[in-house]
Parts: sequence; C-alpha cells; structure tokens
Amino acid sequence: MYNSKITGLGKYLPENVVTNNDLKQWMETSDEWIQERTGIQERRWIDPETSDDTTSIMGAKAAKIAIERAGLTKDDIDFIVFATLSPDMYFPGGGVRVQELLEMDTIGALDVRNQCSGFIYGLSVADQFIKTGMYKNVLVIGSENHSGGLERSTRGRNVTVIFGDGAGAAVLSRVEDNTKGILSTHLHSEGKYAKELALEGPSTGRWVDAIMEDNDPNDVSYYPYMNGQFVFKHAVVRFSEAIMEGLKANNLKKEDIDMLIPHQANLRISQFIQKKFGLADDNVYNNIMRYGNTTAASIPIALTEAWEEGKVKEGDLVVLAAFGSGFTWGSAIIRW
Ligand code: UT7
Repeated sequence: MYNSKITGLGKYLPENVVTNNDLKQWMETSDEWIQERTGIQERRWIDPETSDDTTSIMGAKAAKIAIERAGLTKDDIDFIVFATLSPDMYFPGGGVRVQELLEMDTIGALDVRNQCSGFIYGLSVADQFIKTGMYKNVLVIGSENHSGGLERSTRGRNVTVIFGDGAGAAVLSRVEDNTKGILSTHLHSEGKYAKELALEGPSTGRWVDAIMEDNDPNDVSYYPYMNGQFVFKHAVVRFSEAIMEGLKANNLKKEDIDMLIPHQANLRISQFIQKKFGLADDNVYNNIMRYGNTTAASIPIALTEAWEEGKVKEGDLVVLAAFGSGFTWGSAIIRW
C-alpha cells in the first residue's frame, strides 16, 4: 500500500494590492468595517491594464514553483487536478490550460468545482490516485480570479470586499512509509443550501439570452450572492466537525495538532475555531489579512507560506479544513 506526501509547494499572487481604503472609490465602505468583520486589510486583484494573469496562468506559475521544489520536472507529473470557481472559460477547465502552459505531456487533467473546499477535494482525489498505485506524482492546484467578476458597487459590497485573486499548488508524490503524508481526507456536502452562496448565471439554469432578454437592472444573478450570516453560522459548525472527524479517524487529539490551516474565509471564523480547539497562535496559520478570501487557492497559499516560514516541519501534524459554497466542506490530516 502506497501513501502520498506533499513534496513541493508554490504560490503566486498578482502584484496589484487593493487596500480597504482603495475600495471606497467604488462603494460605501470603511477600513474599520472590513477589518472588524473579516480581519482583511488588503487583497490582490489582477490589474488587466498591467498584467496578463488569468486563473490558469496564475495556477501554472504556482505549479512551476511547486514542481521545482519537489525536485521534479514537468515530465515527472502524471496527472493534474485543478480546483477553481473562476475558470478562464466556461469550458474547458483550467487543468488543460496548465498542461499547455507548462508544456507537459498529454497527461490527464481534471477540474474540481468545489469552491472553498476545492483544494481539499482535489487533494483527496490525488491521494486516491496515488494510494491505488495508478500515479506517482500528481499536481494539485487551487487558483482564482475573483476580481473581474465582483460587483464593484455598494449593492455588492458584502461579497466584494472579501474576495481576492491568487493561486497555490502542491505536488503529491508516492511514498512507501505509511506513517508519513496524507493520513486521511474527509469530504462532505449539503446541496440544499446551494443558493446561499452562489453565482447563478450565466449558466444552463440562466442562459445569456434570458438574462439579456429580461434586461432587468435589478437582476444580479451574474454576480456572486452570499447570505453572509447564514454561511458564517454553518461554517463554524462544519469546520469543527470536519477537524474532529479527521482527528478521530486517526486516533488523534486536538492537542496533537501542530499546525491548523483553515480555509481563509474570515479571520473571525478562524479565531472561533482556534479558541474552540484551544490552539495557540503558533498552531494556526492565517494570511487573510493580506490576501482576502482566495477560495480554492487560500489553503495552498497559506500552506506554502507556513512552510516557507519554517512553521511546518518534518513530523508535524498538519490539519487542513475548509467550508464553502455547495455547501461543501472537508478536512485533510497530514503527517509532514
Ligand atoms: O469562503 C466561503 C465561506 N464564506 C464565509 O464563510 C463568509 C461568512 N460570512 C461572513 O464572513 C460575514 O457574514 C460577512 C463578513 C460577509 C458580513 O458580515 P456580517 O456581520 O454578517 O454583516 P451583514 O451582512 O449582516 O451586514 C451588516 C451591516 C448591513 O447594514 P445594516 O443593514 O445593518 O444597516 C450591511 O449593509 O453591514 C453593512 N455592510 C457593509 N458596510 C460597510 C455589508 N457589507 C459592508 C461593507 N462595508 N463592505
């Protein structure tokens, strides 16, 4: 029986920094409101005037670093898993673009559409491919270009101020030591809440023609919608459940956690979870203050930074947990 281990990590953030005060040019908001409710101070938004970055280009940039750090070349990668809710195109997905951008062989490329839980779902898929012996090295990417699709007005402010652009990537490689690597992953969904955090159109449920025909100035179905407080309440419960489930499955206790990397949804959610699990500041990694919520990219960006800063070390118990649109949620328990 094989196990899979993260052997390389990379991240890419667009250069353009948008502070809370910068947002005031589009909407009524304040630095105080945003920091108090979310902890966010600034985020990165692609500036189309100065940058060609897209979701797949950012993903490819992060992936290149992860592959190098794994001590591999693009030719060693057997499969790509690409998680995003903001692909360059409606179809095809971002995975095939990465295959092309990195000039990889005609390996398989799979897109995962699980929003904020996308990276954990992707990691789980990659882990299964490696555990069954089918693949040796799988690239898992989370990348998002939110900025182009957010409603930059007071009407959209409860969603728009939260989200940022960026990408993170990990290489999962086969190891034969079962005590190291991904110990388990735990995935959940509850589709009855699909519309509580969603972007409904254009889609097959709401085609472009119908949107244009209605020509309704109040129709915002092509902007993301979030029932913020409802999502918040579910998030804190599901985050905790997913972490507990993962610990229990491995006969571990909360005291065993060396590093918790929560999806960066809202600093207040992370702080709630930290308190609930009695974790010290050194045992939880947050960077939402600098990047906002980058959805599928948030965990791989945070994991990469924590590792770069020496906060994730050989032998550590690392726990990843996410919750978001779907609703979907999950956790990954990793012995580094
Ligand atoms: O990553 C996926 C999962 N996502 C999450 O987990 C996010 C969960 N939800 C949240 O983080 C919070 O609900 C938000 C940060 C999105 C919003 O915070 P809230 O405390 O739930 O605020 P609210 O939406 O209930 O709005 C409170 C007030 C409203 O004004 P009134 O009606 O009380 O006068 C809003 O209009 O704050 C107003 N408001 C704003 N004011 C300034 C909403 N957005 C803003 C804003 N700036 N950006």
